[in-house]
Amino acid sequence: MTNPSIIENTIEFVKETLEGAEGGHDWFHIERVYNNSKLIAKGEEADKLIVELGALLHDIADSKFHNGDESLGPKVADEFLKTQDASEEVRNHVIKIIENISFKGGNTERKFSSAELDIVQDADRLDALGAIGVARAFNYGGFKGRALFDPKVKPNLDMTKEEYKASTAPTINHFYEKLLLLKDRMNTETGKRIAEERHRFMEDYLKQFYAEWEGLA
Ligand code: ADP
Ligand code: NI
Repeated sequence: MTNPSIIENTIEFVKETLEGAEGGHDWFHIERVYNNSKLIAKGEEADKLIVELGALLHDIADSKFHNGDESLGPKVADEFLKTQDASEEVRNHVIKIIENISFKGGNTERKFSSAELDIVQDADRLDALGAIGVARAFNYGGFKGRALFDPKVKPNLDMTKEEYKASTAPTINHFYEKLLLLKDRMNTETGKRIAEERHRFMEDYLKQFYAEWEGLA
């Protein structure tokens, strides 16, 4: 099969699979990550097919929505790629991207590294920042029934991966526990530049949020 048709088939597969997904992890999230991955890849040396497949399949069965099962995404992706006659090398690399893309909180070390993972991870992180990042955070918090903010519940910056996953803290805490940390963890120059802008936007957003909370604005 040619590369363009593998990509077209993958897009169809992902759209179908993510039908009805939570608003921050639906096809439109994948589309943004796919487009930003291609943009970032222009400034890097990387295998285009791997970058595109990694972006398209990175949230195909996110463990957050599958009882914490981290093995499902790689499995679903692998089975799909076999139907496309993708080589073992391509399949294995895409699986590594899916397994290693996610920020798990704390200082979890990344066990695999490649230019292609760097690119897709940056594109995924950019979508957690800026105006879209704010929308996604509150949508996910609402999906989980969380409070917007509670001045009594302080952010916890020393959570283990398990504590991070089990946390039911208000959504504003997630900005301090994850979103504001991302700009210093970007891999590529393009990713860093866009992350800086989106980070500043979120800082302004938080200032305005607290001002309104206090009734000052
Ligand atoms: P990654 O894809 O890097 O693993 P996540 O899946 O944890 O990142 O996050 C994806 C999106 O869901 C982000 O926009 C993030 O803000 C949001 N999200 C994840 N966990 C929370 C949370 N505890 N509160 C609010 N939003 C969250
Ligand atoms: Ni994602």
